[in-house]
Amino acid sequence: MARYRPVGRFAQGFVRGKLRHDPVYRYLFEAGLPPADGAVVDLGCGRGIALAVLASASAPGLSGEAQATGPQRFGIERREAHAAAARAAMDGEAEIVTGDVLATDFPCARLILLIDVLLYLNAAQQDQLLERAAARLSPGGRLVMREADAAAGWRFATTVAAERASAWRRCEWRQRYQYRSRTEWVNRLGELGLAVRTIPMSRGTPFANLLYCAETSSGSHGAPVRN
Ligand SMILES: C[S@@+](CC[C@H](N)C(=O)[O-])C[C@H]1O[C@@H](n2cnc3c(N)ncnc32)[C@H](O)[C@@H]1O
Repeated sequence: MARYRPVGRFAQGFVRGKLRHDPVYRYLFEAGLPPADGAVVDLGCGRGIALAVLASASAPGLSGEAQATGPQRFGIERREAHAAAARAAMDGEAEIVTGDVLATDFPCARLILLIDVLLYLNAAQQDQLLERAAARLSPGGRLVMREADAAAGWRFATTVAAERASAWRRCEWRQRYQYRSRTEWVNRLGELGLAVRTIPMSRGTPFANLLYCAETSSGSHGAPVRN
């Protein structure tokens, strides 16, 4: 993706690999998720790949007026190096804040993303963040999150092993992970008043990832989510 050229060769190679091998970005591109207006918030946005993909997905279909007005894009990332990469790649098309998602405010949004982030928080923090996110969804808004299904047997074990291996490569030996089963996530999101659909999101990999598409019950916005 050309927008990552200024970010350096390593980050460019990383992003290329993610776009090639991780099905979630293709899904985000094809699923008709970007709203025509309102805000998109990416919590734990990393290098901003999801925001970049959504920006590319929304540009061709929008009228000139809609392109000029929105959507606004907003990302929060705790690692400054990743946040800086996201900022450079988005080149003014998103506001990227360096900070902790647990302590940083974010605007009301049509679409809130939590892709591979909740596992880094403990259970109480996960609940707190999900509550805040649900409260920030505008009518018809969507919360889209990806997490591994802790009830998925060997695929789940493989997912955990891969996560541990990449944490070791980053020298993050003390990182703890908090996983839940599909049923537990669906129940939790349901308790927050959201209608949830799950979509397998590990195609081409041995992992147990699911995408949870949770919507507020007060109407729908934009295209239906492709299953
Ligand atoms: C596996 S990466 C996923 C990045 C991004 N969501 C994506 O799809 O490319 C997880 C990201 O969440 C960030 N993260 C984890 N806990 C966080 C926290 N409490 N506040 C902000 N960012 C956090 C990490 O620094 C990392 O960049």
